[in-house]
Amino acid sequence: MRILGIETSCDETSAAIVDDARYVRSNIVYSQIAKHKPYEGVVPEIACRAHVETLPAVVSDAVRESGGRWEDIDAVAVTHGPGLVGALLVGISMAVGLGLRLGKPVLGVNHIEAHLYSLFLDGASAPSDEVCPMLVLMVSGGHTLLVRMDALGQYVLLGQTLDDAAGEALDKGAAVLRLGYPGGPEIEKVAMRGDPQYVRFPRGLAQPGKNARTFGLAPQYCFSFSGLKTALLYYVRERPELFQSADVLRHVAASYQEAVFDSLISRLHNALENMPVRTLGCVGGVAKNQVLRAKLERLAAEHGVPLHLAPLAYCTDNAAMVAAVAGAPGAKVQRHFGFLDAEPNLRLSSV
Ligand code: KG4
Ligand code: ZN
Repeated sequence: MRILGIETSCDETSAAIVDDARYVRSNIVYSQIAKHKPYEGVVPEIACRAHVETLPAVVSDAVRESGGRWEDIDAVAVTHGPGLVGALLVGISMAVGLGLRLGKPVLGVNHIEAHLYSLFLDGASAPSDEVCPMLVLMVSGGHTLLVRMDALGQYVLLGQTLDDAAGEALDKGAAVLRLGYPGGPEIEKVAMRGDPQYVRFPRGLAQPGKNARTFGLAPQYCFSFSGLKTALLYYVRERPELFQSADVLRHVAASYQEAVFDSLISRLHNALENMPVRTLGCVGGVAKNQVLRAKLERLAAEHGVPLHLAPLAYCTDNAAMVAAVAGAPGAKVQRHFGFLDAEPNLRLSSV
């Protein structure tokens, strides 16, 4: 089964060809970072226009690079949510048009489920009884979720962020520290030679459940980064001279990153203490970070569970994970021959 996947939910324009839900034949990712850089965040209108301009070429490149023909494609998969509504509609329109032209079904994919499936690409083990139940942390610019995957398509949402996503917190922190955009990789670079113990920033939900609304989820599995962000802002405001010292800036960046990752690790620790799982996984753009990867390795070793990390190429948004999950037995994919609606607020449980 050969699937053409399309991903346009945020600021990456991507298309991929994947065979049998795991063999990636091509994966073209056009990043719009340069276009959003001046604004230090994703501007939806700019993202939509850039998708319109580049998607046709990105799709053609994906088919050409795969070495196959258009006629070999069995279905067209597209992210239909969650994401920016205008951006989603660009990908959906392309997928529906191609589906009609090729006479093939269009498969609507949940972006979150696609990220979870990034663990199983390129011939890695399938989401079988050997790895499930798996405790998965999804950390990206738009999401921070703690999920128990009992099987593909069977998810229990354990916790989520109550405000910013972890990647968003890194992006905003980097803006405060004038490090550039996107903030996650910039902070990682600068923090490499910094002291993570230099400032003790708050870890969010220090007294879980006290005043926080956790949407019916257990507070010990939920995240909050807004207090941390404000703490950094005040810290910097009171010490404008820190920008004069590259060393101090490195220490503050490292301390901020440490606070974000500590809070992720502590929720994972809580879950590993409380429920039997076979393996631990981590996906999403922030999972690219080497400091976080090392912390996850330590945590997994402490709890004696094997760790599965998304391959670096499939951490940030890409269409390979979309095409792959669409062809995987059990995935909650929506099958359409006509129009498919964008679902900007699609949740994992309602796929
Ligand atoms: O998964 P993704 O491409 O988009 C969403 O679905 O949101 O993730 C983008 C996020 C951004 O916040 C970016 O700063 C973060 O992933 N990120 C990183 C790293 N690379 C990307 N965060 C920390 N360290 C990195 N190396
Ligand atoms: Zn994503």
